[in-house]
Amino acid sequence: MKVDVLLGLQWGDEGKGKIVDVLTPDYDVIARFQGGPNAGHSLEFNHIKHVLHTIPSGIFHKESLNIIGNGVVIDPIIFKNEIDKLVEISGSIDNLYISKKAHLIIPTHRILDAASEKAKGKTKIGSTLKGIGPTYMDKTGRNGLRVGDIISGKFIEKYEALKEKHLAMLKMYDLEFSLEDYEKGFLEGIESIKKFKIIDSEFEINDLIKQDKKILAEGAQGTLLDIDFGSYPFVTSSNTVCAGACIGLGIAPSTIGEVHGIFKAYCTRVGSGPFPTELFDADGDKLRNVGHEFGATTGRPRRCGWMDLVALKYVVMLNGVTRLIMTKSDVLDGFDSIKIATSYKVNGEETINFPYEIEAEIEPIYKEFKGWNTDITNINNYKDLPNNLKTYIKYIEDEVGVPVSIISVGPDRNQTIIK
Ligand code: GDP
Ligand code: IMO
Ligand code: MG
Repeated sequence: MKVDVLLGLQWGDEGKGKIVDVLTPDYDVIARFQGGPNAGHSLEFNHIKHVLHTIPSGIFHKESLNIIGNGVVIDPIIFKNEIDKLVEISGSIDNLYISKKAHLIIPTHRILDAASEKAKGKTKIGSTLKGIGPTYMDKTGRNGLRVGDIISGKFIEKYEALKEKHLAMLKMYDLEFSLEDYEKGFLEGIESIKKFKIIDSEFEINDLIKQDKKILAEGAQGTLLDIDFGSYPFVTSSNTVCAGACIGLGIAPSTIGEVHGIFKAYCTRVGSGPFPTELFDADGDKLRNVGHEFGATTGRPRRCGWMDLVALKYVVMLNGVTRLIMTKSDVLDGFDSIKIATSYKVNGEETINFPYEIEAEIEPIYKEFKGWNTDITNINNYKDLPNNLKTYIKYIEDEVGVPVSIISVGPDRNQTIIK
């Protein structure tokens, strides 16, 4: 059996949480492969919205196993909060395993993140300040603390050594902080992690593949935030592309099956960095208000703009996307006209390639589509969708060369059209 992958094709917040929850009944296992609590994955059922940061979005389906893979970074404080909330809702959580090799975000990682952003001033990344960058830096710098260390008997010693290193680094910065509260919560969080099965997840997942179990790898962030291929340096610190699933779970490239690429019917971005189709006018405000475009992790207003085909083709290429999923289609319900960028003018020259120098003068060239001016939030059949929306979808499919398999028309589980 192959491992399917679901990942974001834009700058994150494409609706991964909702769609993973919808797809979970088709899978035995949901495994997160990278990122950490910078992610905020929302899903909604029975009129209640849930936001997950570290825990895979299949957790509400008791019969599916959820695995936090080695590529994920875990903040024990945030993890415990999530678990406590889930226990309140579901009674107990018996379907979650955690990789020994996942790295831990310690309190000083978060402080270092804040210090680094403050020092950058105007050039700040707009990080979620969850300590993601410093934790992955310690991972690649070979200083990191891992979940397996919790059960090694030398945990406190290793933690103190890493903390001391960070405190020495923090002397470089002009930042006041207090560690006490953080540390108490951290140690409580470690106890919470210990209650779960801490495993060699690469063996577990490869065994599950051999047993013909259906596995879905859940990505966080989006390809345009990938450390290698995103709009560097305004990116996150992990590989969000499909190959990241191999690294973050310990599976061979040949095990990858379907690649579900998810995108919004328009674009958003939270944090700094280039955004070629960003709107600064009433249309941008309307997208933000109708789409409730405020971050699930930080509450920050998201920057909004039109769909960008140049970027979409680029990320479909990088990921080998086999199926497209379009979310938030309903947000466009009230627009008379809708635009898609089909090429860019970069320094006066037209191109269909995503440029290296994304900070350059980019003028998107748009194709205009008629809106549908219809409420689609209660439609549950593809054939009942307005023709103008079908034209919009068909155009994207033809241009990208990949079929759209799911259209999401609202935040609820049920507001999902399988094509
Ligand atoms: P993720 O990080 O990719 O999981 O996405 P987020 O949860 O951060 O952001 C997506 C937001 O859009 C959440 O508030 C979802 O509840 C909401 N959402 C998801 N799909 C749809 C949809 O089709 N229509 C509308 N209106 N909202 C949606
Ligand atoms: P999900 O999984 C949207 C953005 C931040 C910032 C940059 C770096 O919910 O789609 P970091 O905290 O990683 O140092 O921030 O990346 N960012 C996200 N934007 N959705 C996310 O996750 C994000 N995770 C990080 O806003 O610009
Ligand atoms: Mg999100």
